[in-house]
Amino acid sequence: MSTVAVILAAGLGTRMKSRLPKVLHPILGDPSLLWVLRALPTGLGGAIVVIHHGKQQVLAALETWQKAGLLPCPISIVDQGEPLGTGHALQVCIPELDRLGTTRVAILCGDVPLTSAATASRLCGAETLLLAMDLPTPGAYGRVIQHPDGSLAQLVEAKDATPEQLVVRRVNGGAYALPWPILRRALMGLTNHNAQKEYYLTDAVVAVAREIPVTVGLCDPEELAGMNSRHDQATLQAAAQRRIQQHWMTEGVTFLHPDSTLVGPRVTLQRDAVLEPGVRLEGSVQIGEGCRIGQGTVITDSVLGEGVEVRPYCVIEHALVGAGSKVGPFARLREGTDLAIGVHIGNFVETKKAKLHRGAKANHLAYLGDTEIGEGTNIGAGVITCNYDGVNKHRTTIGRNVFVGSDTQLVAPVVIGDGALIGAGSTITMDVPADALALSRVPQTTREGGASKLRSRQKKGTALS
Ligand code: UD1
Ligand code: MG
Repeated sequence: MSTVAVILAAGLGTRMKSRLPKVLHPILGDPSLLWVLRALPTGLGGAIVVIHHGKQQVLAALETWQKAGLLPCPISIVDQGEPLGTGHALQVCIPELDRLGTTRVAILCGDVPLTSAATASRLCGAETLLLAMDLPTPGAYGRVIQHPDGSLAQLVEAKDATPEQLVVRRVNGGAYALPWPILRRALMGLTNHNAQKEYYLTDAVVAVAREIPVTVGLCDPEELAGMNSRHDQATLQAAAQRRIQQHWMTEGVTFLHPDSTLVGPRVTLQRDAVLEPGVRLEGSVQIGEGCRIGQGTVITDSVLGEGVEVRPYCVIEHALVGAGSKVGPFARLREGTDLAIGVHIGNFVETKKAKLHRGAKANHLAYLGDTEIGEGTNIGAGVITCNYDGVNKHRTTIGRNVFVGSDTQLVAPVVIGDGALIGAGSTITMDVPADALALSRVPQTTREGGASKLRSRQKKGTALS
């Protein structure tokens, strides 16, 4: 028995009015198609994604997700060519479904992002199932007509429905589980004699229902809502956000202002974490116990240990932040930042590919790029690692317990030994051995009474010397 999932994602998404394919539009940072794929159970015989419009972009996205280990099973891609309807989308999958030795097929839409893992499992485990929902205003959805025993009798697209059928509030969610040999036969007999001149998958599902009973299962409408417009996208995002926040509140997380806080589906938070207003957490983010994330902070694909304090308005991407560290306000931790335990990164400090060991501090106005900074080292205000010579990047290696005075430029490649002391305002171009004092300054000149002399000359307009 091998169940294969088919995700329909070839449509144009005209109503999104976008250059981006509809299935790549994000909900809380993750594209709709990724939501659908991640909800699939493990142990499937495979999944087929049917694509066409925006093919290159979808392929690139799938490759990124594959590399990041986000996909639950091997994915095959089928290009539908010019999309001629949902039934046509399945027809073009026939060779691949045969090749995979499919016995049952579970069909989902790539533009229906909020189907839960539980519902996707229910679908993938069913002999036959059509997921339906009851809507007060059924609109453009296909109507579901049932036999007295509840099994499927008829599916009618809104555009083909009679006024009596349009009154039906039970609608087709577009997700099905069906035995492959029977569906395969039904697909062979499809025609496009309907209002939209399309090959409807729904006609094939009804043909299956004439051979075997097809169960109609009701589902929370939120889980089957499609994203067809920017309005849908906003509504779905709000719904997803409410669910995610409710979950983390139950797990002991405080949201000071839930309405302005966005937490993506791949974020994990430990208890006693506090999220201040306007925080956005996207991608794969882990927030440790007791962390406080300051107002207006954006964190993407990063890991924060226990008790980290991020003060307001920081941007943290692809970074590791050790337990008890303090970051910000207004700090930017870029890709490859690796802070050990108890590191302090203060206001207007930018780090990139920077490894700071335990207790190192850079409290004000610094750029630390392509660098390793030892335990207990203090980086003064205005220090810059000059890592780029216009062509290549170079490394700055700083030992333990070093004191780098304010406004120092470290011209890489350069190595500063343990315990060294760099005087403020230095431009360091050569390695500094351990315990050395390094200074590079223009000598200061001081003229007694020179200030008032200068001012009187300025008033007379005489030349300065
Ligand atoms: C479909 C169902 C309708 C159901 C609704 C639920 C049919 C004929 N109708 O209608 O009963 O209520 O879904 O959302 O199936 N796609 C392709 N190739 C195509 C056409 C569509 O891959 O040739 C994909 C789309 O990208 C989309 C999905 O299939 O992800 C659904 O297509 P869409 O055009 O939105 O179908 P609906 O008219 O909404
Ligand atoms: Mg649709």
